[in-house]
Amino acid sequence: MTARRGRPLLGRVRVPGDKSISHRALILGALAVGRTRISGLLEGEDVLNTAKALQALGARVERTGVGAWQVDGVGVAGFAEPAGPLDFGNSGTGCRLAMGAVAGCPITATFDGDASLRKRPMRRVLDPLALMGTRVTHAADGGRLPVALAGARDPMPILYRTPVPSAQIKSAVLLAGLAAPGTTTVIETEASRDHTELMLAHFGADVRSEPEGVHGRRISLVGQPELTPKSVAVPADPSSAAFPMVAALLVPGSDIVLDDVMTNPLRTGLITTLREMGAAIVEEEVRQEGGEAMAAFRVRHSGLRGIEVPPQRAPAMIDEYPILAVAAAFADGTTVMRGLKELRVKESDRLAATAEMLRVNGVDVEISGDDLAVHGRGYVKGGGLVTTHMDHRIAMAALVLGLAADNPVKVDDAAFIATSFPGFANVMRGLGGDLA
Ligand code: S3P
Repeated sequence: MTARRGRPLLGRVRVPGDKSISHRALILGALAVGRTRISGLLEGEDVLNTAKALQALGARVERTGVGAWQVDGVGVAGFAEPAGPLDFGNSGTGCRLAMGAVAGCPITATFDGDASLRKRPMRRVLDPLALMGTRVTHAADGGRLPVALAGARDPMPILYRTPVPSAQIKSAVLLAGLAAPGTTTVIETEASRDHTELMLAHFGADVRSEPEGVHGRRISLVGQPELTPKSVAVPADPSSAAFPMVAALLVPGSDIVLDDVMTNPLRTGLITTLREMGAAIVEEEVRQEGGEAMAAFRVRHSGLRGIEVPPQRAPAMIDEYPILAVAAAFADGTTVMRGLKELRVKESDRLAATAEMLRVNGVDVEISGDDLAVHGRGYVKGGGLVTTHMDHRIAMAALVLGLAADNPVKVDDAAFIATSFPGFANVMRGLGGDLA
């Protein structure tokens, strides 16, 4: 797919539902007793794979309309042994959260995924689950997929300090903790997205979150609750909204509104950062639904300046660095993004892939240790072919780059965009973007 500079971006859109919330709504629905109804579910490949896995584990998961789904749950620890391996495709979230949900069930299940997911570290989840009594009966080299788990018959509650700030590790432990008697506690030194905690509370679990140290949290969950089915309205995904948002900032004359974007503060680091760079982003119509806040954002073309992005902000914008790096390339001056170690273990090595995406388009970039520096000159030459490495966010970031660069930007493979943002090209075209 190729993106070219063209008209200003104008109009109003709602990007698809939040990926994190969509996975969790399906999983908690499957662990509740009775019927959960979900509206606005992200119907991207990652989430559809989670739906299929839950079905294979015995929950009834049905699509009743566009974005409308219902889940008939089997109750905590109620999963049945699946007939074959569970295939999570490209999705680390689906796979790691499902590992947690299965860990406290007396069944054996095999977890697998595509070539990208098979490269990603799973020990970070397997280690705490083993402490809870789950057995890893098979894993590929380095604790990678395919992994077979034998769930604990009598899971034990643990107190666990996550070695890296990761909502996926935290969520896997909490989901396993649902099946354990007593209190499971997770301590994180940097707060990661808290959708699992918020949704567990929405479904009636006794879950508490307290501050821990300067930036951290201590989350405690009382095990063996009966989860009550609930309605979940999924807000628009801020990590998807990030792409049209940055495109509108970069393409002269643009003025767009993004509706219903989730404003959970543990997800809005990009907006904070863009505003510090001089972006005109205005929040309108703030409202609350199902424990999560959302707002419409009006975004207008803006001149940006380079800044320093502090490492503590990384968890609140971990998926947004590729698109922030694109914004930084068009800014005046250098933007330094610090503490990006976790980017190396995403759908691709995103630190390397982001730097390469910019380099092939004539941008001056440096990686030193875990930091990325982008030397913005106010314009980007473009004209490059970007290798996406099975990574949806590299593909979308590169295409946004092409909408504002002097020359067209091409990506080698746009197929993975469907994992998180089906309809991306149409949404961008609807705003006036030239993607072909
Ligand atoms: C997610 C957590 C983050 C993020 C991913 C979604 C989640 O991963 O990168 O896209 O829904 O919990 P980590 O937990 O590995 O940081």
